[in-house]
Amino acid sequence: MDLKLPTASQIKGKRVIIRLDLNSQETDKIHYRLLSTQKTISFLLKNKAKTIVVLAHLGRPESDKHSFKINQFDLYNEKLSLKIFKGILSKLFKTKVFFFKYSIFSDKFDKYFNAKKLPRIILLENMRFYLGEDNNDINFAKRLSTIGDVFIDEAFSVCHRKVATNTAITKLLPSFFGFNYLLEVKNLDKVLEKSKNDLIVIVGGAKIKDKTEIIMKFINKSSYILIGGGIANSFIRAAGFEVGRSYFDEMPIPNFNKLDFNKIILPIDFKVLDSNGSTKYKMNSDISTTDRILDLGNLTIQQFINYVKKSKFILWNGPLGYIEDERFSIATKSLLEFIKNDKNRKYVLGGGETLDSIAQMAPSIFKQKNVFVSTGGGAMLWYLSKKLKN
Ligand code: 3PG
Repeated sequence: MDLKLPTASQIKGKRVIIRLDLNSQETDKIHYRLLSTQKTISFLLKNKAKTIVVLAHLGRPESDKHSFKINQFDLYNEKLSLKIFKGILSKLFKTKVFFFKYSIFSDKFDKYFNAKKLPRIILLENMRFYLGEDNNDINFAKRLSTIGDVFIDEAFSVCHRKVATNTAITKLLPSFFGFNYLLEVKNLDKVLEKSKNDLIVIVGGAKIKDKTEIIMKFINKSSYILIGGGIANSFIRAAGFEVGRSYFDEMPIPNFNKLDFNKIILPIDFKVLDSNGSTKYKMNSDISTTDRILDLGNLTIQQFINYVKKSKFILWNGPLGYIEDERFSIATKSLLEFIKNDKNRKYVLGGGETLDSIAQMAPSIFKQKNVFVSTGGGAMLWYLSKKLKN
């Protein structure tokens, strides 16, 4: 696919629909993911796009029990409304942003967008409030396309999902990519070329379903794959260890018995919360039925850092523990500290929660020359594994 930015003349006086990724729990501050959209929006404003219509998603309303069908939304969920981004985006783009709170299937939508004069930036409600988004539904995309002349995809971190606002819509409008999308592709391509056999992949976080398949693709392309975070619980459970009340995925890990565990490195110890609410360090063979695994133990942290030291190129996605609670952010913090002080290796870090942890624990990493921070998590892994497949 030819990935192109629009030229100034392709956007001047046009209604531009842009897909951004605003998916962040850190809505109280301006997130790296949002900052990365700034250049494209400034470009559109400077080159006199008539109106910029922002499409984005937040969370996963389809798997949230508080989502319901109302007012021509299929999965409305107050907690996941994008209204909180109105102020954040206004501040970021230094322009007033109008939040259109109604469904795109309501009469208000036609009426509003038929007006001659519209605000410079309009934010629509969460695209995942419509079933058409995940189903890549052309009729849903058609409805959106009626309000724009041009489409720009600036949500690299969603590229691993074939949804209406990055696929179907491109069949209906002249389509382009944003600066950050192109930067991601350029950097990820570059690091892949350079990584050869010195690559170590570290996978953490909780989105197990998305990651297992991708891990398999990296097995023959990297020296080691280090597994932490929620995903490690699924692996050690599959290996026959007790995981107590810890988070894990019921879905079986494909071909688990055929995996090479000289290359896939699982944690040997953990920090757990026991039934009395106390934290304890335990070897993986000592986890009891009432324990909750929430972070890696000190032996594993040291072991992971030793693997990193042996390598020249490190790809890391997903926190290694439950970073929402400071008591369980030690593994993630230790690795970030190591990276912060290391100028000898190349790193590619990515994922929504990884970005949050860098912002909280080691923000200088965002500016570090030997580190590329991707806005994508699953998307980054998906993109790289697609390129690695040969
Ligand atoms: C992300 O946070 O990685 C992207 O916004 C995609 O979100 P998803 O994993 O819920 O599809």
